[in-house]
Amino acid sequence: MDPVYIQLRERACRIVSACPRPGFYRDCADACAWSRNFYLTDPIIARLKRFVTARLSDDFGHGLRHAAKVTLDAGALVVAESGGGRRSDGPMIAAVRHVQCAGLLHDIERSRPDHALAGALSARRVLRNYPLPPEAVADICSAISNHEAFKDVAAPSTPAADLIDACLYDADKFRWGPDNFTDTIWDMVTFARIPPAAFVHHYPRGMESLERIRGTFRSPTGRRYGPEFIDIGIEVGWRLYDVILEEFAAVL
Ligand SMILES: [Fe+2]
Ligand SMILES: [Fe+2]
Repeated sequence: MDPVYIQLRERACRIVSACPRPGFYRDCADACAWSRNFYLTDPIIARLKRFVTARLSDDFGHGLRHAAKVTLDAGALVVAESGGGRRSDGPMIAAVRHVQCAGLLHDIERSRPDHALAGALSARRVLRNYPLPPEAVADICSAISNHEAFKDVAAPSTPAADLIDACLYDADKFRWGPDNFTDTIWDMVTFARIPPAAFVHHYPRGMESLERIRGTFRSPTGRRYGPEFIDIGIEVGWRLYDVILEEFAAVL
């Protein structure tokens, strides 16, 4: 990684650590714990995690760390949407398993054009060998193909498909908050070999797309908590931009 990016990432992490943690993790702590416990103990998820670990690098800033965060938050969103973990019935457990499969696989083809569609096709091939009902595999693949921002999406065909679709999308877009500045952008600019001067030139335009994502959350819980992730990300982004202009102008 370019030394300038190493320094900027360190500054961004310091700015994030001084910001409030998104309220989702406080108010939905039980749902988050439920999802994490499932992620660590379900044998299907463990098997898929091994597969994904061998496949995902940190290309484009959407590697394993990103997949794990999306998976945990997507599972927590499903639990929150299903009553917050107080009701651990079969349908809820199945929905958490399916959304966690979608979370692990959603960026499996990140480096390919139209990665959402390519990822859905790839996920269908992978999941053929897993003990999942065909309709669940269809829901998972549909959610993966629909997870990109600012694209027209096909409406999910059933309530179960809708839940997985919305929770995968929202957990992925939570990453446009503080995680964008602690992880994603540095991996993306490094992978794409973008020189620091070009990165700074395009920075204000990148900040505008953060504003646009605020209104796109899909689940009730995502719509409630998602905008705060984005607001924190925007605050971090502009504070970091001040640091860039004040302290890094000479080296850019
Ligand atoms: Fe993606
Ligand atoms: Fe993603």
